[in-house]
Amino acid sequence: MFTTMLEGTQEDWTHIAGEHMKHQVSAAPQQIMDSLARLASIEVGFGANQLEHSLMTATLARQDGASDEEVVAALCHDLGKLMSIPNHGAIAAEILKPYVSDDLYHAVKWHQDFQGRYYYEYLGKSKDMRERFRDEPWFAVAEKLVDRWDAPAFDPDFKADSLESFAPVVTKVFSRPVRAY
Ligand SMILES: [Fe+2]
Repeated sequence: MFTTMLEGTQEDWTHIAGEHMKHQVSAAPQQIMDSLARLASIEVGFGANQLEHSLMTATLARQDGASDEEVVAALCHDLGKLMSIPNHGAIAAEILKPYVSDDLYHAVKWHQDFQGRYYYEYLGKSKDMRERFRDEPWFAVAEKLVDRWDAPAFDPDFKADSLESFAPVVTKVFSRPVRAY
């Protein structure tokens, strides 16, 4: 094995790529579950913390007959808030990108501007920010994610499914083998 990349060989890189793949497939689902649990610490003025909100969003998706990818996207759409609230949609979208459709990637990336329909006017922004995406092929998917599952998911009396109940679908989606390079 090399000590500097300047001396890397085919054999080194075949080994490294294989180890990355092995780690990614075995570790990613638990990393996502652990990260989702940490959302409980984010209380930012809503009637529910960010874990409760994420569970409500994913439960509404599941009750709506959403696909596995959609349920996981609904569950993880605010995961980026662990790192940066202003960039949270883009961060969550990049985490999901190797595992979900392009439509869901874009829907998660831009979900806040779709949410703006309900509150941007109260914060000095246009509530029609979603309109600039109306001709995009993923527009309807973003409306479904936001209008049917995300926007209604702030009711503390709603009986959301537990985080553990989503472990099988998180494992199914995040243990798909994806290229590390
Ligand atoms: Fe949300």
